[in-house]
Amino acid sequence: MNIQKTHNEWSSRLAFILAATGSAVGLGNIWKFPYITGENGGGAFVLVYLLCVLLIGIPIMIAETMMGRHTRQNPIDALKTLTEESGADHNWHYLGWLGVVAGFLILSYYSVIAGWASAYVLKAFVGSFSGEDAAGIKQIFGDFVASPIQLIFWHSLFMFATMWIVNRGVNNGLEKAVRLLMPSLFVLLILLVGYAMTTGSYNEGLRFLFTPDFSKLTADAVLTAMGHAFFTLSLGMGAIMVYGAYLPNNISIAKTSMLVAGADTVVALLAGIAIFPIVFANNLQASSGPGLIFETLPLAFGNMTGGWLFGILFFVMLVVAALTSSISLIEPAVAWLVENRNITRQQACVWAGGIAWALGLGTVFSFNVWSDVKLFDRTIFQLLDYLTANLMLPIGGFCIAVFTGWIMHQQHSAQELAMPSQGYKVWRVLVKYVAPSAVFLVFLHVVGVL
Ligand code: PFF
Repeated sequence: MNIQKTHNEWSSRLAFILAATGSAVGLGNIWKFPYITGENGGGAFVLVYLLCVLLIGIPIMIAETMMGRHTRQNPIDALKTLTEESGADHNWHYLGWLGVVAGFLILSYYSVIAGWASAYVLKAFVGSFSGEDAAGIKQIFGDFVASPIQLIFWHSLFMFATMWIVNRGVNNGLEKAVRLLMPSLFVLLILLVGYAMTTGSYNEGLRFLFTPDFSKLTADAVLTAMGHAFFTLSLGMGAIMVYGAYLPNNISIAKTSMLVAGADTVVALLAGIAIFPIVFANNLQASSGPGLIFETLPLAFGNMTGGWLFGILFFVMLVVAALTSSISLIEPAVAWLVENRNITRQQACVWAGGIAWALGLGTVFSFNVWSDVKLFDRTIFQLLDYLTANLMLPIGGFCIAVFTGWIMHQQHSAQELAMPSQGYKVWRVLVKYVAPSAVFLVFLHVVGVL
């Protein structure tokens, strides 16, 4: 197949780094990491998460990028090609499907939460937070999520924006969006950390994040930490694979992956360092759940000098960070549709976006009219989150590690990665033994076998 016909290439190494970082850095870092850290007791949870990024996330990111570049296809076809090439059982190609389905499910609720962030741009702009105390800010959030109409409106807007950007293709849409955003987001977070230092609870925040108390660490918390390592690095579902497919040949996959994972981790930690001091200074609950950043950061914006502008910029950036991730959630499906179903990119975007939008209504209602509807003790949103981040992504990642470690021909991976031999050996040990056994052990722990 002529690759250039169906697949663009990133214009440079920087473009890939920005796009992969754009996919990795998103709501996962700024919205999810703080709230799940708060729900799971802080330090020990953060430590497990960091270990997972290092020992499982980075090796699997290298593996996924390598699979993408080696085949230069969408994840479903990439798995088919790799399976044939390695003479493996053809059932392996279902791994590509698992990824596409996980992408849809994640996008469905991701878009709803990104919709919240979009609504908060407007709230910041009209000065809703100005002078409000903690109770007032909580009320604003509570009233907002209680309204299905408002949530549907913002969810639709965000999904439409995702479809529009993806339709413009790799070089036009994706690259431009991330180039400006990533550095700006970084600067803004540093400024927020600066504000957190003035709250009087800065040390308490740091202690919460970095002093491990293992008595607070349940089996489910370990699974959530591991699942989050996959979620935040966009691993286990082919998003990074599809971006790898656009990566020029002469670029070092290992170095690039470490850089992306490093940037992603720094952003998450900065978000935590900015948020927890504000939580403690205002006697808020660290474990208050998905509303955490919406109930804390506006307090800072409403009470600091320049907070009006700061608030607008922050939420704009959060929305853009979410967009650069949502486009990678939908890209595997779109690439597959275009390459296999003979439809235009535009039609593929409409189909994929439309389905994810409809699914997203379940999440919208789980915060209001269906808040009592529970399956396995979880609302629809909680169930989707658990199913994707805690189960599908780790299972997908496990299979990717096993495939590249045990099944793919070693000479192919060695050639594609072109690493110094020591580095290659370390990577192989990690994907062959460490990552799969770690995921497996965590699952055993959760089902109570360990
Ligand atoms: N990594 C994104 C975040 O942290 O917000 C979410 C995500 C994007 C997950 C793409 C999975 C994915 F394939």
